[in-house]
Amino acid sequence: MSTIPENQAVIFYDQNGGPEVLKYSTEFPVPKISETEILVKNIFTGINFIEVYFRNGIYPAKFPYIPGREASGEVVAVGSSVTNFKIGDKIAYLGNENFAQYTKLPSNKVSILNLGENVTNEQLKIYAAALLQGLTALTFINEAYKVKEGDYILVTAAAGGVGLILDQLIGKVKKAHVIAVASSEEKLAKAKANGAEFLLNSSELSVEDLEKKILEITNGKGVNAVFDSIGKDTFELDLKVIKRKGTIISYGNASGAVPPLPINRLSPKNITLLRPQLFGYVSEPEEFKHYTSELFKLIDSKQLNIDIHKVYELKDYPTATRDLEGRKTTGKLLLAIP
Ligand SMILES: NC(=O)c1ccc[n+]([C@@H]2O[C@H](COP(=O)([O-])OP(=O)(O)OC[C@H]3O[C@@H](n4cnc5c(N)ncnc54)[C@H](OP(=O)(O)O)[C@@H]3O)[C@@H](O)[C@H]2O)c1
Repeated sequence: MSTIPENQAVIFYDQNGGPEVLKYSTEFPVPKISETEILVKNIFTGINFIEVYFRNGIYPAKFPYIPGREASGEVVAVGSSVTNFKIGDKIAYLGNENFAQYTKLPSNKVSILNLGENVTNEQLKIYAAALLQGLTALTFINEAYKVKEGDYILVTAAAGGVGLILDQLIGKVKKAHVIAVASSEEKLAKAKANGAEFLLNSSELSVEDLEKKILEITNGKGVNAVFDSIGKDTFELDLKVIKRKGTIISYGNASGAVPPLPINRLSPKNITLLRPQLFGYVSEPEEFKHYTSELFKLIDSKQLNIDIHKVYELKDYPTATRDLEGRKTTGKLLLAIP
């Protein structure tokens, strides 16, 4: 076992702003664990769009702020009363502050998968890539709106990290019709290869054109559900193209937050509107166990492919997020932790 250093490399920031506020330091203290905690040496960390919201101030961040929501790695220290982990165990987890070499976690945290010792780095890469976005897509299509065979479902950012997983689960696994919206032909081709049936290019079509096309595809009826991660720019479209008794799942703010609305706007079509977050579906141990087991069954049986756009070095996160925010990426972005 390698010794644990005093200091570590991290990405952090101490003020809100654009990617320019991000700093790389090799002088951050490695967290000290209590008797009930474990210390993990991260190997791969997943990049998620939510980091942008904390950095630019849509969500509150306490400074100095180390980003990160999910990672995989190896347990390198355990507190004296910990019995469910041992040094050398490989884990994948949902948890904060892992744009860093070392992260401490409570040993009773629900969202840790203990993978044992015999897991390769290639497998750890998939775990870090799949966990947050895979669970988001899987829980949302089962709980926010239970997608049924034959449904018409609108998916925005359909070639993004969550988007490509939604395309596969809705189009291929649930056998519903995916109407994909993305901003380039390349992205739409990728959405199609992942299960999308109808392709709408948001760079070429106005919002009115998108509405017209979606209503044409659905014979004027509208879609059974919308999975919308764009937020402000697409919410009015969602209200127009949703079917009577349909469900709008507004789950992201890529273009800004949806402004508050009077609830009677839902009345004319008896719309169900949700603004869910993943953690609300996997906070109980049985829920996390159920959905992670379903997710990795789908991956292992090759019904679900996790498309990794690129693995960036930890210090290159500013480039990675510029790519993500600049809409240049498809699928999942990862950090390799030194
Ligand atoms: N509620 C939850 O629990 C939860 C969990 C996970 C993710 N999310 C949300 O799901 C969304 C997708 O996350 P992700 O990590 O997979 O990211 P992503 O979809 O890979 O990347 C964001 C995509 O959003 C689209 N976009 C539209 N307008 C944009 C704008 N103004 N600026 C930047 N991008 C814009 C772009 O696709 P096009 O160029 O094709 O439009 C871009 O590629 C995010 O909004 C995230 O916050 C929510």
